[in-house]
Amino acid sequence: MAELKISETRDLTRIERIGAHSHIRGLGLDSALEARAVSEGMVGQTRARRAAGVILQMIKEGKIAGRAVLLAGQPGTGKTAIAMGLAKSLGLETPFAVISGSEIFSLEMSKTEALMQAFRKAIGVRIKEETEVIEGEVLEVQIDRPAVAGAASKTGKLTMKTTEMETVYDLGAKMIEALGKEKVQSGDVIAIDKASGKITKLGRSFSRSRDYDAMGPQTKFVQCPDGELQKRKEVVHCVTLHEIDVINSRTQGFLALFTGDTGEIRAEVREQIDTKVAEWREEGKAEIVPGVLFIDEVHMLDIECFSFLNRALENEMAPILVVATNRGFTKIRGTNEKSQHGMPIDLLDRLLIINTEPYTKGEIRKILDIRCQEEDVEMAEEAKALLTHIGVETSLRYAINLITTAALACQKRKGKNVESEDITRVYSLFLDVKRSTQNLMEYQNQYMFSSSSAKEVEEDDGNAMVS
Ligand SMILES: Nc1ncnc2c1ncn2[C@@H]1O[C@H](COP(=O)(O)OP(=O)(O)O)[C@@H](O)[C@H]1O
Ligand SMILES: [Mg+2]
Repeated sequence: MAELKISETRDLTRIERIGAHSHIRGLGLDSALEARAVSEGMVGQTRARRAAGVILQMIKEGKIAGRAVLLAGQPGTGKTAIAMGLAKSLGLETPFAVISGSEIFSLEMSKTEALMQAFRKAIGVRIKEETEVIEGEVLEVQIDRPAVAGAASKTGKLTMKTTEMETVYDLGAKMIEALGKEKVQSGDVIAIDKASGKITKLGRSFSRSRDYDAMGPQTKFVQCPDGELQKRKEVVHCVTLHEIDVINSRTQGFLALFTGDTGEIRAEVREQIDTKVAEWREEGKAEIVPGVLFIDEVHMLDIECFSFLNRALENEMAPILVVATNRGFTKIRGTNEKSQHGMPIDLLDRLLIINTEPYTKGEIRKILDIRCQEEDVEMAEEAKALLTHIGVETSLRYAINLITTAALACQKRKGKNVESEDITRVYSLFLDVKRSTQNLMEYQNQYMFSSSSAKEVEEDDGNAMVS
């Protein structure tokens, strides 16, 4: 591994769908880190949000590594939502990795390897690199049509100039395609990365500003560059340690990033990468950007994982660890010991604990309002009041889930607004936990593995903070 490979994977378009937390756009804090009552999709839970704001500040300053935060509270009190809000507030450059405690128990890699990968996904490296670029104003793009349609690949010529010189470049099929994709035309000022062939449009040349009317107000006008066409330029890449690991550990490394099929990464590869990154840091070529690793449902980890976390947090390059759990006093997995939140005391001792509290009726109403907007569902006032009532009596999550289903019921009767009747209908179609439990108690002997009495089930589940 003489040359360490790095590559930008940030341009990947993320698929945006309406998920459980897609309405959360930040923590909803003002500049003094006070929580606004309703902001950025966040409602209430002000104390926890303020605390998360302090953590956000710590992360942004980038000086503190290896701290850990525990979000603890009943199910449906917004623990995951707050972590997502934190992620949204961080900006693109700070890595944020999310795993769920149960995810690391896979057959393909050991649990500590899975944790290690998660840690390294949460550590960014900002690498400065000098590259050669061709930068100038496009005078002419000329593409030769092949004599026979579809025969040999296209060729062409690109004429570019600066205020001092003018050069004609030969074009191959790949460059022609790239120019077409960027819709490059004469009068554009562009930069071409010589190594990758990537084309960046910098703007329109001022000499073409009389075309303004034709181009519209979004067009950015720039000076025609001076000096040589070929220049050395400093570019900054942001990658995570995990991305560097994967790209360097396999021949198909880059593809593995897309498929997620990364397998175990050998310790030697990581050591080499760490050494190289340390070298770059010393030479001033790279900086470490500690990000955030969020482990949801952390009580699913076992004692070995917890001791791994303990040690990993002491590493100089450790990210900020945020964990969440809804468990109270319960068994630590892999032991017979009980402990708070199912976590060993030596790890708990390192954590800053943020508590989330159950929502008031007003807050539930507000969250349901936001979710209706997010899912583009028009709901009558009466129906909303009913849904809020259901939210209070059952759970916030159950009420949120009824929005989509009620909208479908409304569609089916060709209604425009969701009315109380739709809510009542789906309420009777889909059970909440309470009614489902009742159901189980009545009909338990018709289910499989039902020899245990319902009482035992309850006791077993008594770990959860809910009663
Ligand atoms: N304060 C809040 N503001 C807006 N939406 C919230 C808030 N708290 C929770 N939600 C939403 O309610 C649902 C349940 O919350 P969630 O964060 O999954 O709870 P937890 O992780 O504590 O079990 C999610 O869809 C979440 O986005
Ligand atoms: Mg959660």
